[in-house]
Amino acid sequence: MIRQSVNVIAIDGPAGSGKSTVARGTAKALGYLYIDTGAMYRALTLKAVNNGIDLDDGQALEGLARETKIFLEPRGEGLSVKLDGRDVTNEIRSLPVTEKVKYVARQEGVRAEMVKLQRVLGEKSKGAVMEGRDIGTVVFPDARWKFYLDADFEVRVDRRYRELQEKHIPGTREEVSRDLEARDHTDKTRKAGPLKQAADAIVIDTTRMSIDEVIAAILTKKDALYVSRIG
Ligand code: DC
Repeated sequence: MIRQSVNVIAIDGPAGSGKSTVARGTAKALGYLYIDTGAMYRALTLKAVNNGIDLDDGQALEGLARETKIFLEPRGEGLSVKLDGRDVTNEIRSLPVTEKVKYVARQEGVRAEMVKLQRVLGEKSKGAVMEGRDIGTVVFPDARWKFYLDADFEVRVDRRYRELQEKHIPGTREEVSRDLEARDHTDKTRKAGPLKQAADAIVIDTTRMSIDEVIAAILTKKDALYVSRIG
């Protein structure tokens, strides 16, 4: 029986699990839209910091989320991120934003606004690969395909550190390690939309896999899953 479900591939997992690169590659292989939901939380965090908003003030942050325009536009193989019309693609990757995003992402009101926007993006696309923490559990519990990527902690730190170096973003490996540990903790323990594996997600441990191997695994499992659901 074919389950009526949105044409979304949900990819969840902790920072450094390979989600972003894998999601981008999978979207490219399928001609699907790539949606990076972490970029949305990052953009809002940047605005909150620039506006001097208290990051513990849930109401102020929710209000900010409502009045903020965040656009994700395909650019090259990735996305450009516009915050109220301003390109913030690189700025949102800085360590200060990375360290503060957990305070913004734990606010229930903020998440409700973001989830609304993410559902519109997914539903209006012909097909989308959406990556984040709560895509398979909250945003699209009825996604046609769900994957959960994970990897050993030290490997995730190495990946994030290399990424910063490649983008010439300041930060030591020690800082990256501390940030990742703190974000893992808040991502998994917050009340609203915690990082959690959906019961029907396929888990892929990417510790010893290359990006291409993970993408190939997703494409293969995706087809197998579809056959098993219509069979
Ligand atoms: O994937 P990322 O590192 O760019 O995400 C940045 C932060 O945003 C991450 O620490 C947790 C949060 N996030 C979230 O809470 N829910 C999502 N769907 C995506 C990201």
